[in-house]
Amino acid sequence: MSEGLKISVIGGGSSYTPELIEGFIESLAELPVKRIALMDIDSRRLEILGGLARRMLRAGQAPIDLQLTSNRGEAIEGSAFVISQIRVGGMAARILDEKIPLQYGVIGQETTGPGGFAKALRTIPVALAIAGDIERLAPRAILINFTNPAGLITEALHRYSAVNTIGLCNLPIGAEMRIARRLGVDRRRIALDWVGLNHLNWIRGATLDGKDIWPQVFEGEVEAACQAPADGWSFSADLLEGLGMIPCGYLNYYYNRDAMVQKIKTAPRTRGEEVREIEEGLMNMYRDPNLHQKPALLEKRGGAYYSKAAVSLITAIANDKKEVHILNTLNEGALPGLDRRAVVEVPSQIGSRGARPRVVDPMPPQIRGLVQAVKAYEELAAKAGAEGDRRAALQAMLAHPLVPSFQVAKDLLAALLEAHRAYLPQFFPGDHPKPS
Ligand code: G6P
Repeated sequence: MSEGLKISVIGGGSSYTPELIEGFIESLAELPVKRIALMDIDSRRLEILGGLARRMLRAGQAPIDLQLTSNRGEAIEGSAFVISQIRVGGMAARILDEKIPLQYGVIGQETTGPGGFAKALRTIPVALAIAGDIERLAPRAILINFTNPAGLITEALHRYSAVNTIGLCNLPIGAEMRIARRLGVDRRRIALDWVGLNHLNWIRGATLDGKDIWPQVFEGEVEAACQAPADGWSFSADLLEGLGMIPCGYLNYYYNRDAMVQKIKTAPRTRGEEVREIEEGLMNMYRDPNLHQKPALLEKRGGAYYSKAAVSLITAIANDKKEVHILNTLNEGALPGLDRRAVVEVPSQIGSRGARPRVVDPMPPQIRGLVQAVKAYEELAAKAGAEGDRRAALQAMLAHPLVPSFQVAKDLLAALLEAHRAYLPQFFPGDHPKPS
């Protein structure tokens, strides 16, 4: 391993950054980070998060040099790893993504359905610009993409750039921890047979120290489902038993579509509005010069454990650990039934050169069609986002299983493009003159 690494965080002013800093401090013995560059276009947030990061590093006696910058190239230059955690358009844009589809009777959500599509359209040009900087200034760096919709953004990066990109989500580590807790064992002894795409995945097998424990794991989920009401993120026991697998919470938007639309429609506010308030509280805490650690309020965000996933992934790459992590990476034939160039979320082997998916069993028919349909949507969405192709954008909407008709696809697309035109240079080049 190289002597001291530079890691840059694009979107370093994110309220999640203290999690990452904590993770790097805790892993210093295995991962000698020499410099962390936090880059953000929001100077206020950069100052607040930078201040807290500095205090955390000092309190943790970590010999890590902190660079704060609003210049992306400066941050990326010389990095071994670049972490992307951006939100183009901020929380205001997320709230529009949540509200506009509801006017058409369609689910409004930041990663799933047309809301996630709009987020992808705003994000892809910036993600590709980050990739361009990496190609120029840190060509051997590995890009760890957290930016949502994480699978789709990773797909666009693979299709439209040469950067070695891995997409990462906190759902796999969250599921491992939940199952490990129930069994009373360390999470690292558990291996899940996880299949699908980001936010569209199922667990269909599990081992403990290599021994099959699937019947026990599945039974545990069914029992938990019997105790909890089937709303929000949980599923009913008969749904689990019918499926024979454990779906991730986001599959509620498909399996319980009408109920979820109703639930979101009648909620007093959207999740984005809730998060905006949590973030205000967090920023006030982060400003306190006496705060030297991550506050408990951060646990109210959905991205719990995401830094654990990131830091253990980076540690595994830097130490060529040959561990298996569940990641978003190029299929390359590992998951039959999908294009080789598609990005899939499956257990992947980690080594010094990045991630390679493990060959897994084909998808059973009860999930295969849905995965193929959403992947087709993602392929079209990546094209629309990268090329500003309106026809591909309409085709993406038509291909999406949650969009009910051509009329809705057309009208909703027009509404989303118009609402976000300030962040869509590829669709509105006239509004976004290129700097000369
Ligand atoms: C889950 C997802 C993340 C997402 C988060 C949203 O953990 O896996 O991809 O970012 O929820 O959390 P929030 O607190 O922003 O609603």
